Amino acid sequence: MSGNRDSILPPIAWLPENSPIPDAISDWLMELGSMTRRFERHCGLVQVEPQRECFVTCEQLGEEAEHLPYSERYWLREIVLLGDGQPWLLGRTVIPQETLTGPDQALVDLGTLPLGRYLFSSNTLTRDYIHVGQQGERWARRSRLRLADKPLLLTELFLPSSPLYAV
Ligand code: PHB
Repeated sequence: MSGNRDSILPPIAWLPENSPIPDAISDWLMELGSMTRRFERHCGLVQVEPQRECFVTCEQLGEEAEHLPYSERYWLREIVLLGDGQPWLLGRTVIPQETLTGPDQALVDLGTLPLGRYLFSSNTLTRDYIHVGQQGERWARRSRLRLADKPLLLTELFLPSSPLYAV
């Protein structure tokens, strides 16, 4: 379980590598491109509503900190993504402050701009892994990404009205 004190994401049970996942679900969870783009194929309008954007300490991260190098502080971004007004996804991004250098300082100013618009416009983006998780009946994934080799951790929980469940 990943229990983050004080998060919009409920605790998620991360599955062992090679756990069986239905093909249609896996096709969504293993999406390597922008999830925002993928959602846009299923609605007229994707909107991101930031719930929290602030710096936090390592102690406030709980288990997530194990996936990132130690930092004095981390930028935390929590959002709800809506497809045609319906809540489709909760997103939580944790970024060590050492990642926020050069143009990547822009990550603290995203506001309603979907994160993927920034990440996937970069030609330095790489992904170390995707972990799949479950929260009750819902699916989640966690990706460790890198911008010019500098890590960040993105957790996404797919809400019941998300097109992922419409398969
Ligand atoms: C975000 O803007 O933080 C965001 C957007 C879409 C996602 C995840 C995070 O799938």
